[in-house]
Amino acid sequence: MKKSIGQIKAEALEKLQSAPDLESIQALSIRYLGRKGIVTQFLRNISKLPPQKRPDIGKEANEIKHFLDAQFREAIRRFETEPSETDDRIDVSLPGRTAQRGYLHPITQITLQICDIFTRLGFDIAEGPEVEKDYYNFEALNIPKNHPARDMQDTFYISDAIVLRTHTSPIQVRVMEKHSPPLRVIAPGKVYRCDSDLTHTPMFHQVEGLLVDKKVSFGDLKGILTTFVHRMFDDQTSLRFRPSFFPFTEPSAEIDILCVQCRGKGCRICSHTGWLEVLGAGMVHPAVFEIVGYDTTRYTGFAFGMGVERIAMLKYRIDDIRKYFENNFRFLKQF
Ligand code: DAH
Repeated sequence: MKKSIGQIKAEALEKLQSAPDLESIQALSIRYLGRKGIVTQFLRNISKLPPQKRPDIGKEANEIKHFLDAQFREAIRRFETEPSETDDRIDVSLPGRTAQRGYLHPITQITLQICDIFTRLGFDIAEGPEVEKDYYNFEALNIPKNHPARDMQDTFYISDAIVLRTHTSPIQVRVMEKHSPPLRVIAPGKVYRCDSDLTHTPMFHQVEGLLVDKKVSFGDLKGILTTFVHRMFDDQTSLRFRPSFFPFTEPSAEIDILCVQCRGKGCRICSHTGWLEVLGAGMVHPAVFEIVGYDTTRYTGFAFGMGVERIAMLKYRIDDIRKYFENNFRFLKQF
């Protein structure tokens, strides 16, 4: 052993005295007390000394190790808690930090636009629970147990009788149970399906519409939806009604709009068909009216449903739905 432990201690304290900043103190602590540090090595080498010398030197070295450790810790603590001279000075001429402004989420914005268009057409806004009874989500919409239409929806079941609603259509039933006709409502909300890819997320948003009155016809449905699409997109966006099937409407249709990108020529967005599907709709099925106790000889009605993300993707030309839910501020700021 070249240096005595006393010399090592003196040397370490001297260096600590002149250490200019936190980093150099930390470096010194490692240099002396680290795994390969000078004091640590010294302690290790004690085993090579003649046995009679070991106890005294070992005791002294251990004490010095603890002493230095305390010194380094204290010095580090002082540096961390005491403001340095430069920290003390306040530059009153510096501009303040501006608070970041928040924005309405694009999905919220589109939902509000949709609701605004329909409230101007005389529709009231209704809401319903996201954790829904099987009865409202399926049964009362003419979708009995074991009906194949249940498979289309990839339902999240909470229990046998309770589900996360797979669409906003159950709100139709809840509204009709409470109010008698005439009525016109739209119902925005979150819906859930066990599905996830480029165009599907397990949670997404729909807006449901329902109008019931005397002598309501499919022509009224066409008129309302055409007005909606023209206001949401523009007057040049034509609509196409395709026959379809939903258990709660008869007849049923799926509504396509002229592709917002290629205007019917065919492109990647519309899979070269020239058209984009945006809505499901139809005349309310008499079975649904009977379930809520409406007189089917006096009243008819139409219903429709649309996906908000789908509309938002087309309006903003975004092809990956997941972007809406990643909370990337730079993405959200654009809208
Ligand atoms: N609930 C349907 C769905 O999620 C959409 C729908 C279709 C709603 C037809 C309606 C309707 O009100 O009449 O796929």
